Amino acid sequence: NIKNVWWHDMVTNPPVGPDGHDVSMVGVDCSIIMNPKVWEASGHATGFADPMVDCKECKARFRADQVIVVDVYAGDTYLSSESVEASSSADPSVEEYRKRAEFVEAVAGSTADPELKKGAKRFRQMLRDAAINNQNLIDDLASAWGGKVARDDIPNRLRSISLNVRPRRLLDSGPPNASVACPRCHAVNTLTEPRAFNLMFETFVGAVQDESAKAYLRPETAQGIFANFKNVMDSNRVKIPFGIAQVGKAFRNEINPRNYTFRSREFEQMEIEFFCHPNESMKWYEFWRDVRIKWYESLGIKSANLRPRQQGAEELAHYSKACTDIEYLFPFADEPQELEGVAHRGSFDLNQHGKFSKGKEDAFAVVDDDTHERFVPHVIEPSAGADRFTLAVLCEAYTVDESRPSPEFLRFHPRLAPIKAAVFPLVNKDGMPEVAEPIHREIKKHYLCQYDAKQSIGKRYARMDEAGTPYCFTIDGQTLQDGTVTVRDRDTGAQERIHKDRCLEYLHDHLRL
Ligand code: GAP
Repeated sequence: NIKNVWWHDMVTNPPVGPDGHDVSMVGVDCSIIMNPKVWEASGHATGFADPMVDCKECKARFRADQVIVVDVYAGDTYLSSESVEASSSADPSVEEYRKRAEFVEAVAGSTADPELKKGAKRFRQMLRDAAINNQNLIDDLASAWGGKVARDDIPNRLRSISLNVRPRRLLDSGPPNASVACPRCHAVNTLTEPRAFNLMFETFVGAVQDESAKAYLRPETAQGIFANFKNVMDSNRVKIPFGIAQVGKAFRNEINPRNYTFRSREFEQMEIEFFCHPNESMKWYEFWRDVRIKWYESLGIKSANLRPRQQGAEELAHYSKACTDIEYLFPFADEPQELEGVAHRGSFDLNQHGKFSKGKEDAFAVVDDDTHERFVPHVIEPSAGADRFTLAVLCEAYTVDESRPSPEFLRFHPRLAPIKAAVFPLVNKDGMPEVAEPIHREIKKHYLCQYDAKQSIGKRYARMDEAGTPYCFTIDGQTLQDGTVTVRDRDTGAQERIHKDRCLEYLHDHLRL
């Protein structure tokens, strides 16, 4: 449903452009396995990499930018370091880790007291396993120290050791003699130097598995669009400005896939590359940025959770004039995270493909019919993740209302609801199924619709509420007299009567936009 709605709203029926004219858009479906040359041109072959470190002891692999190291000092004297893997794909919160780490490091390297050391070891284990609160720590220390220290004295004992704790990222420089532990097995000085790890999935085409047969699964759908730019222009009677759109799978060998579908190795993108005259590019950038933000709002994403973030100049790629990340505050994360990037990419991509395929940067230049000016179009790229938006839609739709028969239900926007309608005969006899079945048969030609004749009507409504089905049609005793059925609205529970022949029309009206 998400992909269909995106395709409808962006490709077959896009909004009117900033110039007052209809936006021209072409849809494509390019190949997933692509020639390495494409990825040399795009920069992915060399640049699409994360810095990784490996633990020589336990063989775990970490993204270097996600390892936090806490250096512990007594005054200015460096004592030891503890490290931990960031707990989410969000930028790790150094401050949050600092608070948790203060306790452990305060006990760890500062004392010769064997009891305190024993307690610290125990604490380390807990830190690995779960976020803890101080009460748990004290209980644990009490049992680790086997009653030698009174439980009430433990907080004082911990407080009596005061140390400086300075957290940093692994890639930031630390004290010259810092000994960094593996975040997983805690062996000391076992991490390798950071190495670039390319995120592209490699394969071989044809019978022989050598360098010449190497190919890659696309890490983004965008490059298929650039590689086919000229094909589309030559075969579709389109003129600048126009867009090429694609929905499809992309693959990245992510080291830490996590947070449900937020970071996956196989995911789907919904991408537009919009080609325009360089002088008009900022106008189109602002247009697409605003269109995309409004799109999420129109589908029920509350603006309080939706956080468009304009990238600062220091974050932008050298060829880019502007970029907005449309971020969403997921309930499992502390910081808003990216659903979509809307990027001004200048002429970088077409220049690169021109250079790599024809030997000159302006190979894909176009000529303006009126002014005869020759120019390489600029590109605005709204690039969205279907999986991430699905996750946001689920989070947003989940509603708890204890006053309802089903206290938890999914409040999907009707356009996104997986099941659009249900048809129920109130009882499975008395001529009601004979009326209900043809209604269901008619609706399911157009929409996913369920038929259910079993159990009480309340249970059937509750089940549909849990699945997020917006409309239920019920055939009851009155239907047999005057031909009307009830339509129940999922969100309000309100019912109205309409003629049984109008059920499909009712859905068309309510699901259109
Ligand atoms: N062509 C531009 C491009 O690919 P990106 O920011 O790397 O830009 C665009 O990806 C969108 O694809 C992201 O905003 C996100 O929604 C989605 N995405 C990227 N990596 C993902 C992953 N590992 N799992 C799920 N979605 C991902």
